[in-house]
Amino acid sequence: MNHSERVTVLVGVTGGIAAYKSCELVRALIKRGYRVKVVMTEAATEFVTPLTFRTLTNEPVAVSLWEDDPSAPVHHISLADEADVCVIAPCTANVIAKIAHGRADDLLTTSVLATEAPIVIAPAMNVHMWRDEVTQSNVAALHARGVVFVEPAAGELACGDIGEGRLAPVEEIAAAVTVEAERARDLAGRTVLVTAGGTQEPIDPVRYIGNRSSGKTGFAIAAEAARRGARVTLVTGPTHLADPFEVEVVRIQTALEMHAAVMARVGEADAVVASAAVADFRPAETVSGKIKKDSIPEAITLVRNPDILAELGERDLGGVRIGFAAETSEVERHAREKLEAKRCHMVVANDVSDPALGFGTEANSVLFVTRAGVESSGVLLKRTIAREICDRLSRLLAGGHTA
Ligand code: CTP
Repeated sequence: MNHSERVTVLVGVTGGIAAYKSCELVRALIKRGYRVKVVMTEAATEFVTPLTFRTLTNEPVAVSLWEDDPSAPVHHISLADEADVCVIAPCTANVIAKIAHGRADDLLTTSVLATEAPIVIAPAMNVHMWRDEVTQSNVAALHARGVVFVEPAAGELACGDIGEGRLAPVEEIAAAVTVEAERARDLAGRTVLVTAGGTQEPIDPVRYIGNRSSGKTGFAIAAEAARRGARVTLVTGPTHLADPFEVEVVRIQTALEMHAAVMARVGEADAVVASAAVADFRPAETVSGKIKKDSIPEAITLVRNPDILAELGERDLGGVRIGFAAETSEVERHAREKLEAKRCHMVVANDVSDPALGFGTEANSVLFVTRAGVESSGVLLKRTIAREICDRLSRLLAGGHTA
């Protein structure tokens, strides 16, 4: 991610007749104050020359993976890192297919695969190619991963056919880039504390009581908030997930350890996102040696764990507080109750009775419950849900909300 003052937009140009309109797009983006870098596919250079874009942007125009100055940084990685937003306009059916399948065989597709920046795609192609099921399923797959599409317009196409497939108006594409550019930095200067994963409450050195949670949503929220400029601390129970980039990760095991880690850090937080599945109870005592099977205890006495989020609410700590609710029935009602009981600003609620969604899966469908109303996310990948949560967090922070 680029940390310079000016927002950098990487404009990808692919080989279609609408490539000439990319010149207008580049001008519109420069007019909006962005630093623009262009990367073209070989096919695009058949329609417009790199020199045109070089002149418009005053920046070198990249085409090939192989023509780098050997002393320069690895080009596709530096472009990917520099970009705050990546927009591909026009984007052909072929490049949509390549991106949807993770292919990276030229500078543009490698940069797209390597970037952490939001991606905007403005397709342009023949109407039959656009409507083809395979194109539509590629579009749907990318959409679920959070790619923003600026839908092609209808009209007469270069090939003579009539229908949708024309590149969307340049101003519409530029506006979509602006939405993403604002989102790319909207948590800058904020400190966000995220809890994730399930806690494990030891019975003896090898056994524990725990809650089901992969930690994926919390890790995705931490990564998204960090990408958007926040200083993020992630307090997580045991999970196999790797540390997100640019996030301070505090790994704990028990609810008491999570409680201590949160309380030690919450003073600095502008927001707390409590996605952890904290075990509500722990064994009153942990047996120091392994319990052998011929000496099974008659019963294990449980005691309550502190409710971390409720305590933050009670003491009005942590700024904007977002809680989670995993329910199996009457999802909205239970979420509303938690919103009030734990004095949160928003509760993200999901129905965990559907095995295709939620625990351990890549996708989820949630309700965003606030005092202002309820919105449904529809089925999205957890990474995209994280983006939706950060959008709302950003608005709550900007609105100076109190519970
Ligand atoms: N939470 C917490 N500390 C706990 C328990 C829960 O911070 N000891 C937080 C979770 O991270 C989540 C929310 O509170 O944001 C979930 O509320 P919780 O009371 O755990 O929900 P349930 O256990 O499902 O409650 P109930 O049994 O009342 O449905």
